[in-house]
Parts: sequence; structure tokens; C-alpha cells
Amino acid sequence: MAKSALLKSSIGKKYWMALTGLFLCVFLIGHLVGNLQLIFGTDLQFNQYAYFMTTNPAIKVLSYVTYISILFHAIDGILLTIQNKKARPVGYAKNNAAANSTWASRNMAVLGTLLLVFIATHMVNFWAKMHFAEMPLQTQTLTNPMGQSVVYNTTTGSFVDAAQVQMGQLELKNGKEFYIPGSDIKFAEGYKDLYKITVDFFKDPTYGLVFTLFYVLSMVVLAFHLSHGFRSAFQSLGANNPKYNGLINVIGLGFAYIVPALFAIIPLYLHFVK
Ligand code: HEM
Repeated sequence: MAKSALLKSSIGKKYWMALTGLFLCVFLIGHLVGNLQLIFGTDLQFNQYAYFMTTNPAIKVLSYVTYISILFHAIDGILLTIQNKKARPVGYAKNNAAANSTWASRNMAVLGTLLLVFIATHMVNFWAKMHFAEMPLQTQTLTNPMGQSVVYNTTTGSFVDAAQVQMGQLELKNGKEFYIPGSDIKFAEGYKDLYKITVDFFKDPTYGLVFTLFYVLSMVVLAFHLSHGFRSAFQSLGANNPKYNGLINVIGLGFAYIVPALFAIIPLYLHFVK
């Protein structure tokens, strides 16, 4: 391949890596906010959120864009690394590398590969269960304003005494949610209990601990990957104005450390505190 064509295509690859990488950063913020409900929300809130995320058509499209972005970003990254290695076979990158670049920038491919292993494991842990496995539905026992126990037994599917609905002690809304009139207590039929699956997964004394450590270590890897990736994406897209570089660096580093740290707190909290 002619040198200019090589350069062109490697610039093209960098451009797409930057675009997909920044899209994945937006995904991370959304995913983090949703997952923080595991700490700050109720089981119903989290399950409603998971239900919305797996059934809303617009979100489904976004999910497919996310999957494609992950694959594209990974494949492009591997090709770019191979291309770079071929372009400088003398190993000049090693010369004085520590002085000219950060450790993360020199190890983006390794960090990215570790993240790919994390994402694949993570999808098996939760996503595959949510989409393809039989899952328990959420159960709840509440006391209605008349002091009666309203047992919602989702395991058998017979969740509410029909008489309670007929007598107006319960109101059905949206075909899925029951409200106790005069109160703001609501509960739901048919939400998959992803909350329980996730909490039980990390709470388990043995494999829960192993996965908690794996998730925390993976978030360290994510932090390193983002510490170079975020800033580098702006450069690849041509945003290299000395006026704004400082600001991009600060936002990039903040993003790179705060987002993975908040992600890491979730399994730690579920395993050690909940
Ligand atoms: C450490 C805390 C995290 C927890 C507790 C968590 C939890 C979950 C759960 C429960 C799902 C299944 C949701 C569903 O399919 O509806 C999911 C999906 C997913 N997670 Fe995570 N996650 C965490 C971190 C991450 C990180 C750091 C990444 C990326 C680097 C990530 C990438 C994904 C992807 C790509 C999906 C599939 C999303 C989709 O189908 O649209 N997760 N996560």
C-alpha cells in the first residue's frame, strides 16, 4: 500500500475510533446512572428501568448502536495497532517512550483487549440472563390501607386476589402496575427481577467476591483506557486548539477516574454492605 493511502486509512480508522469511543462514553454515563439505582433506588425502580431499557423501541436501536460501536471500536483498534507496528518495525516507539508518552497511551490495545474480556463476561453475567434466560419475576408483600396483606406471588403467577381489584382496594394501571388507592404505594406484575439477580450475584460469598474483585480491577483498566482515550478522541477529531486543550484534559481526566470509580462502588457496595 502506498504510504499516503496507509496514512489516509489510518487517519480514517482513528476518526471512527474516536466517534465510536465518544459514543461509548455517553453510553457509560447512561449505564452508570441506571445502575446507581442498585444503591440509591428501590428494587421496583430498578426493575422498571430494566424493563424500559429492554422494551422501548428507541432504546433498542441505541442498544444495537452500542453493540456495533463496541465491535467496530475493538476491530478498528486491533487493525490500527497492527498497522502501527508494521509502519515502525525498528521498535523506535520504545526509544524514550516513557518521556514522550504515558503508559496508558502505549498500552491502549492491551487495555482495550482486557475491557473486551470484561464486556464479554459481563454480558454473560447479566445481559444474556435478562434477554434469554428464565428469570424470576418480582415479588412483593404490602399492607393495604385496610391493614390487609396484599401478597403478590409472581412465582406462581397468581399474584393478586381478583376480589381486591373488584372491591377497589387495588387499581390496575398500564396493564402492569397496581396502585393502592389513596396511597402512593404501587407494585407491578411481570417485571423480571433483574435487581435480585444482580444483588444475589455480587452478594454470593464465594463467586460474588471473585466477580466483585474482577469488576473492580476491570474498572481500573477502564480508568487507564479512558485516561488516554478521552483526550485522544478529541485530537483525532481535529479539536486541537490550545485554548481548549487544557479544559478537554481536565474533563477527560475527571471522566476517566470518576466514572469507573462510581461503577466500581456498585459491586463493592452490593457485596460488602447490602
Ligand atoms: C460495575 C457495575 C456494572 C453493573 C452492576 C452493570 C450491570 C448491568 C446489567 C444488570 C445489565 C443488563 C441490563 C439489560 O440487559 O437490560 C448490563 C448490560 C450491559 N452492560 Fe453493564 N454494568 C456495569 C458496568 C458496565 C461497564 C463498565 C460496561 C462497559 C465498559 C458495561 C457494559 C454493558 C453493556 C454493553 C450492556 C448491554 C447493554 C444493552 O443491552 O444495551 N457495564 N449491565
